[in-house]
Amino acid sequence: MTAEYKVQGDVAVITLNNPPVNGLGYDTRVGITDALEKANNDPAVKAIVLTGAGKAFSGGADIREFNDITKAMREPILLSVILAVENSRKPVVAAVHSVVMGGGLELALGAHYRIAAPGTKVALPEVKLGLIPGAGGTQRLPRVLGVETALNMIVSGEPVNSDVLAGLPGQKLFDQLSATPESLMDEAIALAQKVAAQHADGSALPLVRNLPCKHPQGDAYFQFARNMVKGMAKNFPAPVKCVDAVEIATKYKFDEGLAREREIFTNLMQTPECKALRHIFAAERAASKIPDVGSDVKPRDVKTVGVIGAGTMGGGIAMNFLNAGIPVTMLETKQEALDRGVATIKKNYEAQVKKGKLKADKYEQRMALLKTTLDYADLKDADLIIEAVFEELGVKEQVFKKLDEVAKPGAILASNTSTLDVDKIAAFTKRPQDVVGMHFFSPANVMKLLEVVRGQATAKDVLATVMGIAKKIKKTAVVSGVCDGFIGNRMIEQYSRQAGFMLDEGATPQQVDKAIEKFGFAMGPFRMGDLAGNDIGWAIRKRRAVERADMKYSATADKLCELGRFGQKTGAGWYDYQPGKRDAIPSELVNKMIEEHRASLGIKPRKISDQEIVERLVYSLVNEAAHILEDGIASKASDIDMVYLTGYGFPIWRGGPMRYADQVGLFNVAESMKRFARNPNDDASFWEPAPLLKKLVAEGKNFN
Ligand code: NAI
Repeated sequence: MTAEYKVQGDVAVITLNNPPVNGLGYDTRVGITDALEKANNDPAVKAIVLTGAGKAFSGGADIREFNDITKAMREPILLSVILAVENSRKPVVAAVHSVVMGGGLELALGAHYRIAAPGTKVALPEVKLGLIPGAGGTQRLPRVLGVETALNMIVSGEPVNSDVLAGLPGQKLFDQLSATPESLMDEAIALAQKVAAQHADGSALPLVRNLPCKHPQGDAYFQFARNMVKGMAKNFPAPVKCVDAVEIATKYKFDEGLAREREIFTNLMQTPECKALRHIFAAERAASKIPDVGSDVKPRDVKTVGVIGAGTMGGGIAMNFLNAGIPVTMLETKQEALDRGVATIKKNYEAQVKKGKLKADKYEQRMALLKTTLDYADLKDADLIIEAVFEELGVKEQVFKKLDEVAKPGAILASNTSTLDVDKIAAFTKRPQDVVGMHFFSPANVMKLLEVVRGQATAKDVLATVMGIAKKIKKTAVVSGVCDGFIGNRMIEQYSRQAGFMLDEGATPQQVDKAIEKFGFAMGPFRMGDLAGNDIGWAIRKRRAVERADMKYSATADKLCELGRFGQKTGAGWYDYQPGKRDAIPSELVNKMIEEHRASLGIKPRKISDQEIVERLVYSLVNEAAHILEDGIASKASDIDMVYLTGYGFPIWRGGPMRYADQVGLFNVAESMKRFARNPNDDASFWEPAPLLKKLVAEGKNFN
């Protein structure tokens, strides 16, 4: 049963029961309408209470119906359910608690009366999926909260506490706030009995739709709101449409407004931006599921964490755990290195306190959770130990052998290596089943992505634990198999190679950066190189020259590094930088160096279009990703999208590289690759479409 029906005295109680959050899927919608009918036909029932079981009143639409439009649109659709609530001859009291969001709030707004438990999270979050509320939310919420409060909630999608809303002067959202969450149902039933008595004479029941909806400054206010929202929404159409819909509520009769809201909603559903956001919503959930690690696998307990190395990454990694209230012991080889690491953490927190993002007492609490040591014995009780020392296998060997000696049985030993073989690292210990890669991205306290590298021997419960802890520290964890560069960096290498070839052929760094930034990347490859340090790629290419001498590269990046132009940290890279500033200024010297190199290769420069730049950069990611899927390094295409969206600044509204390729059409993508393969200055063998891509094209299928 997805909606339970019970009669308590003269009140019928309808309880949504569709775990985890009482999503309003087809069965639940039928359950509600059936129960309403039953209550209305039962002469013993005088009033109805509508509530939710478990940890929500209702979280809104059932996400399982997201990609099944026919089921989502099967009558009774939510609009019809709400109409049935409004039309109930007996008063309906919505008793909301915990979470009342999206369609759940729209449903409650159809009730004649509403009572909320304190601490209930109230929101219309549809905008986060590229939509506006589509079942009356934009028409009813302004009528009960006033235009401005309602619009703020609808445009931001953020939850507001019921206590705050109930305290707003003149609000009509809640008729009552229960004394405690526990007393909600008793108070709801009492309210139902009271209003039933008031309307025993057959007087009309109050409906939100009948309330007035006006803003004193009308046009001026909406113009102002539209301008504000336009600036913030950038490539997303939905936020501005939220403004339109609320304005409609002030200008049209209720039913006309409802129809117009529905039209906007349906049109938004078809936009690529909305489809991309819905894809990401599902992809994020899918990423946390590992095909062969079921819910029967019990994670290990992680109460304390050790971090080895207090450098760039170690400090940021430690902050993640401190932020989540988990004690950290940080180990280094020298006291100075520890002091430097702690000073950086403090500086980071102090900047947050200054900006008002962190309360001073919270800062103190977090710092109190941090211990430092030079002695491995202090890690003997740690449940999880993350190594972030120099990227040299010899150093990793020393560390892991030492950890094997001191760590308690069952402790998880993780490496933050970005390129080294996790299986080799695991083999330094006598417990390879406890070893896993936890590849954070810089700055580790900010970046959302965590690649969880599954070694050959990594135990399932280790994976389950790391995925769980990732959630706790608010990371998006994606599982990768062991290979050079894992998912993200293996792909970015191909992207960087293409960027280099295009310089050889006639482009400038600024042209390449501009084109891909216009496509929506947060930063082009050359500005990115200057930020991260061009010397990192240089070191990798030197190693590659030994391991894979056949791999073709443009030599411009090496020439740049030979000049000591490592990027922002040396005040010069692909671009020039003024002291203390981060603005990239095109460099005459670099552009001349590129021209000279081009001439030495005997290449006649040609004009490269922005479209070619974007296609070569993005499709290089796609082709390598297809190999990654084939090799089983990633288990699904949507995981690759998550890696690029959360770790590499791929434009959100395009849904990730795989989803973008699906949208362009894999046939078109493969045809472009074949064209690129004919370019003598590129790497023809790379552009051979990956077998998986060819197969999907032949079958007319997509990655996602
Ligand atoms: P870093 O050079 O800033 O810090 C390394 C720290 O480890 C230094 O403070 C050093 O004193 C300490 N250390 C060295 N040997 C040690 C030992 N035997 N015992 C204890 N401490 C020792 O390096 P960074 O950038 O923090 O990199 C650390 C690891 O993280 C490397 O494996 C790197 O590949 C990886 N990584 C780095 C990223 C980055 O953007 N910097 C991104 C993702 C991973």
